[in-house]
Amino acid sequence: MVSTQGRKRLVIGNWKMHGSLGANAALLCAVADGAKGLPETGVAVCAPFPYLAQCRELLAGSPVAWGAQDVSAHLQGAYTGEVAAPMLAEFGCGYVLVGHSERRAYHGETDALVVAKAARVLEAGLTPVICMGETLAQREAGETEAVVGAQLDVALDLLHADQLAKVMLAYEPVWAIGTGKTATSEQAQAVHAFLRGRVDARNAAAAKTMPILYGGSVKPGNAAELFAMQDIDGGLIGGASLAAADFLVICGA
Ligand code: PGA
Repeated sequence: MVSTQGRKRLVIGNWKMHGSLGANAALLCAVADGAKGLPETGVAVCAPFPYLAQCRELLAGSPVAWGAQDVSAHLQGAYTGEVAAPMLAEFGCGYVLVGHSERRAYHGETDALVVAKAARVLEAGLTPVICMGETLAQREAGETEAVVGAQLDVALDLLHADQLAKVMLAYEPVWAIGTGKTATSEQAQAVHAFLRGRVDARNAAAAKTMPILYGGSVKPGNAAELFAMQDIDGGLIGGASLAAADFLVICGA
């Protein structure tokens, strides 16, 4: 599960708001079975909250970890509809996505809220995957580094050094999510290297070990080229994680 750079290699499926008990059972069993043949890569799926118990039931003892797609920034209390990080820990989650662009766009999540969520995840002993990325308009305006740099800086400002050492990042250009348009491996590598350099300027130890995943229309046909890049440590896979065969090809890349 470790790259030549000594970093953890991981492919995480982001099911988004898809699934049913019946469809999940087939998918989880196929992924668990296929992952046995992929000892080089960490494999995880982030399912909707109601299905976390099913993930625990069907994945416990398998090489596949599971996680959630969001979490409350609060620990407990009168926050109707929210789910707290310790609850996710009780269901065996290993990972929690925070700040996915769909949360930022449709639920008005700010950088500060995203980092507060990451802190709750860390306090619960789980790994936050902090997602960041620019829109097409921002890329075309030459603002990619300014945008992702600002998103990252809030995490660098608010998390302690020992917390940063346990964080994972996911670079997901908004224009590549669910659109079939992938960043080229060079475009993705350039942003990953930029992010790692920015972490390095504050915390060299964390920069060396921090996995940075790429997400946005990763498919069986383009995963190997993306994952071969020096600073790309794996992927966050949306649509293609719903088909076991495709997801496993990506995990094997
Ligand atoms: P996609 O989604 O692979 O369907 O583009 C990725 C994501 O949103 O995490």
